[in-house]
Amino acid sequence: MTYSSVVVLYFLSFFTQAQNTIPEVEALLSKMTIEEKIGQLNLVTPGGGIATGSVVSSNVEEKIKAGQVGGLFGIATPERIKKAQDFAVNKTRLGIPLIFGSDIIHGYKTTFPIPLGLAASWDMELLKRTAQIAALEATADGINWNFSPMVDISRDPRWGRTAEGAGEDPYLGSAIAKAMVMGYQGDDLTAENTMMACVKHMALYGASEAGRDYNSVDMSKIRMYNDYFPPYKAAIDAGVGSVMTSFNDIDGIPASGNKWLLTDLLRNQWNFKGFVVSDYTSVNEMIAHGLGDLQAVSALALNAGLDMDMVGEGFLTTLKKSYDEGKVSEAQITNACRRILEAKYKLGLFDDPYRYIDQKRPAKDILRPEHRKIAREAATKSFVLLKKHNNTLPLKKDANIALIGDLANDKTNMLGTWAPTGDFKLSIPILEGFKNVAPNAKISYAKGANITNDSIMAKNVNVFGTTVVLDKRSPEELLAEAVAVAKKADVVVAVVGEAKEMSGESSSKTKIQIPDSQKQLIRALVATGKPVVLVLMSGRPLVIEEEMGLPVSILQVWFPGVEAGNAIADVIFGNYNPAGKLTATWPVNVGQIPIYHSIKNTGRPQPTETFLKFKSSYLDAPNAPLLPFGYGLSYTDFEYTDLKVSKTEIAQNEALSLSVTLKNTGNYDGEEVVQLYLRDVVRSITPPNRVLKGFKKVFLKKGETKTVTLDLKAEDLKFYNANLEFVAEPGDFEVFVGTNSNATQKASFTLK
Ligand code: NOJ
Repeated sequence: MTYSSVVVLYFLSFFTQAQNTIPEVEALLSKMTIEEKIGQLNLVTPGGGIATGSVVSSNVEEKIKAGQVGGLFGIATPERIKKAQDFAVNKTRLGIPLIFGSDIIHGYKTTFPIPLGLAASWDMELLKRTAQIAALEATADGINWNFSPMVDISRDPRWGRTAEGAGEDPYLGSAIAKAMVMGYQGDDLTAENTMMACVKHMALYGASEAGRDYNSVDMSKIRMYNDYFPPYKAAIDAGVGSVMTSFNDIDGIPASGNKWLLTDLLRNQWNFKGFVVSDYTSVNEMIAHGLGDLQAVSALALNAGLDMDMVGEGFLTTLKKSYDEGKVSEAQITNACRRILEAKYKLGLFDDPYRYIDQKRPAKDILRPEHRKIAREAATKSFVLLKKHNNTLPLKKDANIALIGDLANDKTNMLGTWAPTGDFKLSIPILEGFKNVAPNAKISYAKGANITNDSIMAKNVNVFGTTVVLDKRSPEELLAEAVAVAKKADVVVAVVGEAKEMSGESSSKTKIQIPDSQKQLIRALVATGKPVVLVLMSGRPLVIEEEMGLPVSILQVWFPGVEAGNAIADVIFGNYNPAGKLTATWPVNVGQIPIYHSIKNTGRPQPTETFLKFKSSYLDAPNAPLLPFGYGLSYTDFEYTDLKVSKTEIAQNEALSLSVTLKNTGNYDGEEVVQLYLRDVVRSITPPNRVLKGFKKVFLKKGETKTVTLDLKAEDLKFYNANLEFVAEPGDFEVFVGTNSNATQKASFTLK
């Protein structure tokens, strides 16, 4: 490159940068001292909500007045938020407003199903709507920044936070990331009913080794780019305002101090313009990771491209010293501060620091009846029918029912994990929902079993309030009562599974079956010979090999949220025909984990499940999962025929359309999620056997036939090659369309 072209480039970049800056922010920056800039990088929580680390911030009021705080999280209500904002606006030299964050993961006060459940709806409009409602309610309470969406791909159901994400798949995960960001942020971030989103946890948090929370991650770049990065990137392409780093290390450097991740990838390759916040004390945790003392790790984080420090105050207490010693530059501090001020500007806080603070709004906007209606609809759409048996379901509304299970008459577990802004007392227990929907049914209730008999497990999961109560009666007495109730009924509905905190943050497990106490209950109920329906609750895929083998029907309901009981009753009694589909593969046993559908063929594929020596297989388990990705039944049946591609040859950058005939052959109206999988037959890096590249949810009346069309965009054929270039390579492709990832309708085409 010649000297003159370097000069031209320099001025060009200067010009573009100057063009993109915000004059108000630049004017403010020019007045700020280094200490004031560092103050903006500090995010604190006064406690009182759920603290997700062992420390909370101290002397918050004094720090705000001293200009040492840029934002607050974990507080709500216009009164409390106004008080804090007053300190910042009236008591500091420059009066810079605070940003107010919160964890609104699946609804604010109107709690929707856990994210893994919402994802199972495969309904992007619905997901967007839930995010809009969350934004409306949260902003009514003074919050303008949300630590969501959580888009970490998880292929290891031992990891408790599987509950918080969308499952295993990058294509579906990307669509959901986009829908959520659009729902929270809307078209106008300054509007009083929208809030800034924060995509998390950048990056790869869901790949913690052995599913143990906060554990190390070690992964090839090819896998990062193809399988784990797409949802973060989709959120960024959708304009997400902020990014939260993850706790884990990547290539030996924790995300919060990883320059490759936060600068080279996020800013330079992906062109992210917002700000990056650490996770809860994740800067300080780099000390335990083994990277030095607080001053060293704080400098590392700033130099890597981290802008805001959550709770740990390493930035606040050490950056000035590092600056004096020449370990960080003023430009780095200014850049971080600029990004935070720009976020406040985009939210309209410089125009009006009290924009989101209106005493009249909570009563008007929180828990509106129409929000509860959507919560009920969202829950019914999240349920997955895992097994049908003898047409037991749906039940008649005048049936004689034994409703069994601790979870069947419970409010404390219905919201699921990470619903700190929700109120469990508002949730509808299943027993109540049954009575609402089927007032003429005869319903007898018995507890049957404790959620677990393991008192240590009970103690561990009761940290955020008691949700597992060990009954004073013995397990034998509980069981005998339930069996007696079951014997007098025509049908048994047993609600079984996990308590809400058996999944979520810091809730990893090595055994992921239904707890033993409830397994025994199920066996005893089946032994009565009555038809049995299992309503299964969990925040992760479970190992249910035994239960799938029993003569029972199984409806997976995750944690359904505030309308739990009504929504479950809607489906059990046939007001709504379930159509949810699994977004994470369910293993036969824990030994198959990690498990996901887009596996590669290997050089020694096993052609069938019959064991063959020297093929890629297990001696003691099949390769196939118990339930594949995309799986979910309906009260009706669907038949796929006649898959066609619009062209059998396409050029680079050309799109393709597919059509398939879908018939509702059963006895109920119903919805089906038509799924499209692609196989790149030969390419320069080993291809997965199939990857999801499209889906459409369609409604068919009983007996109806529809032609369903799906589009394959040119981009859908692309992948990251060995040089991490995003390319489509010429050659043959196969497409599969059907009801889950084992789809059998097949067609092919060639890319020239
Ligand atoms: C820790 C969690 O990892 C993160 O998801 C959450 O946003 C923060 N705590 C703040 O509560």
